[in-house]
Amino acid sequence: MITQSNSNFPNSQALLDIICDRIANSPQHRLTFAEYMDLVLYHPKYGYYSVKKAKIGKRGDFVTSPSLSSDFAELLGEQFLQMWEILGKPQEFSLLEMGAGEGDLACDLLNYLQSRHPDYFATLQYNIIEQSPSLILRQKEKLQNFIDNSSKICWRSWLEIEDNSQVGCFFSNELIDAFPVHSVTINEGKLQEVYITLKEGKLTEAIGELSTQKLKEYFRLIDIDILGQDYREGYRSEVNLAALEWIEQVNNKLKSGYLLTIDYGYSAQRYYNPQRYQGTIKCYYQHRHHDDPYANLGYQDITAHVDFTALERQGKNLGLEEVGLTQQGLFLMALGLGDRLSELSTGKFNLIEVLKRREVLHQLIDPAGLGRFNVLIQRKNLNEIQKLQGLETKPLHY
Ligand SMILES: C[S@@+](CC[C@H](N)C(=O)[O-])C[C@H]1O[C@@H](n2cnc3c(N)ncnc32)[C@H](O)[C@@H]1O
Repeated sequence: MITQSNSNFPNSQALLDIICDRIANSPQHRLTFAEYMDLVLYHPKYGYYSVKKAKIGKRGDFVTSPSLSSDFAELLGEQFLQMWEILGKPQEFSLLEMGAGEGDLACDLLNYLQSRHPDYFATLQYNIIEQSPSLILRQKEKLQNFIDNSSKICWRSWLEIEDNSQVGCFFSNELIDAFPVHSVTINEGKLQEVYITLKEGKLTEAIGELSTQKLKEYFRLIDIDILGQDYREGYRSEVNLAALEWIEQVNNKLKSGYLLTIDYGYSAQRYYNPQRYQGTIKCYYQHRHHDDPYANLGYQDITAHVDFTALERQGKNLGLEEVGLTQQGLFLMALGLGDRLSELSTGKFNLIEVLKRREVLHQLIDPAGLGRFNVLIQRKNLNEIQKLQGLETKPLHY
């Protein structure tokens, strides 16, 4: 039996009622884990990302690179500038940020490009594609300056973006790990799926046949023999079918340019390593993490690591050529983070400033933390052989 929601959280009961209702009204009286995760994170009224409350940053539940320091956005800005140059400095260049959270990255990036690279800034159209209406409101507040003083920035849904229309770069930080995932398991020698159902009025997990054959096809795409002898009975993991649909969507909209994805995860070989037999689900609440996705309903983030092989293969099949994959630490160092660290020893700053800045810069490249996130860059309709600056340092295994 699953741990039930905590009554200290007023929305949890309402969300639980909605989940129970959905289960009761579904044909087989059960939800896939992906349907469950979609409800608890994105239900328009009670979902974690819909409720008006700080989620990201010191006052929220977890920190992300953009929430730590503007250095992240600024160094990324240097990479976007080079992409623009490689594309031949087009008069209109789109940056499309998917899943913009609190809007920190957009704000720091636009401020930096405006002051440091005005020629590039003049050509820029910044688009945000964001699922959460309450986060859109927060982003608009933070970016008011750019809404009032220029038409630099707009919020768009996928439907509002014409196919094959965008020249520039689609990018995201910690988006894919927030997509709802299916939960699969080996049961009686077969690949089966974990569902959420009701038993005596309480949420319970139940195992059943796969909800879609796409789950089997997924393992073929990434060349993993999930029914091979290495996988023992009870082995469990996640499959992010939404990530495959997302990359298809990006590919449809991109005319020429790049897709840059930053997130935590592994290659398929490591993701589906038989020893990682309990999957990769992690939940975040007030800067603590645990692996119970049924606790703190609507008040905690639920994530799953990203299978980068799936992004690479799906991209390749669609016509997105891989430019390179590296780790965030190496990527940011190649873009100049080392110079920023050295600058701290020049005597220009006071000691407190130096200590604070050194700490955040180190956090961004920490090989045991944010620095080991993967950075995947794919491109479309470009033959340019010039190496991207962020990929200049050879990556370690991922
Ligand atoms: C973990 S937060 C990361 C936020 C931000 N990128 C950062 O690094 O601070 C995930 C973000 O993705 C958004 N999101 C999740 N699914 C989405 C989707 N399908 N389309 C657009 N945004 C989505 C969430 O609402 C949230 O803004």
